[in-house]
Amino acid sequence: MTEARKRARRAEARTMLRRRGAAAATVVGVVALGAAWWTGSQGAMAQPQENLVVPADANIDGGKSLYAEFCASCHGADLEGQPDWQSPGPDGILPAPPHDETGHTWHHADGLLFQYTKLGGREALAVQGVAFDSGMPGFAGQLSDREIWNILAYIKSTWPEREREVQTARTQASISDGRN
Ligand code: HEC
Repeated sequence: MTEARKRARRAEARTMLRRRGAAAATVVGVVALGAAWWTGSQGAMAQPQENLVVPADANIDGGKSLYAEFCASCHGADLEGQPDWQSPGPDGILPAPPHDETGHTWHHADGLLFQYTKLGGREALAVQGVAFDSGMPGFAGQLSDREIWNILAYIKSTWPEREREVQTARTQASISDGRN
């Protein structure tokens, strides 16, 4: 990765943190998380058999039903997330963020969204060497890869054009970097 690229990524991570409005006490954890998300170049996500991208023929309607069944209880029936999702609860764990355009799901490449859903937050970050106590469970035992892609296709289908374009570009960049 070039220096310029690293700088750009760090700047992006800082912007994300500002948007989250993270309280000073939570910044340490969030920085660790941000660093893994933005610089993760090692670990299981680096050498997949093939690129982790939403398949062109993903079933959006099927994904919508699965979302209602498996994700809505925490992320909201309308993808609105939990109240005060930017502030950790008394246990130090962050609430579930929205998956609509007001959240940060669209800031992340397809591969990361997939791994986060399949492995859960703690495990997805652990493979990148980051210890993070996440409230996001893994769905590997309950959903097939195909079903996870369908859910992600549904989530993405709800975003406005601009957010979709940004997220597509991010996925492309992640593939070019060999991180996807
Ligand atoms: C038991 C509650 C719970 C359920 C059910 C749940 N999540 Fe989460 N999820 C969370 C929490 C809490 C976070 C934020 C903590 C973190 O980032 O690790 C999160 C974070 C995420 C993230 C990373 C943040 C982002 O917006 O990119 C993704 C992706 C995600 N969830 C997808 C899903 C999908 C898809 C489903 C359904 C298959 C689902 N979640 C079901 C609690 C849940």
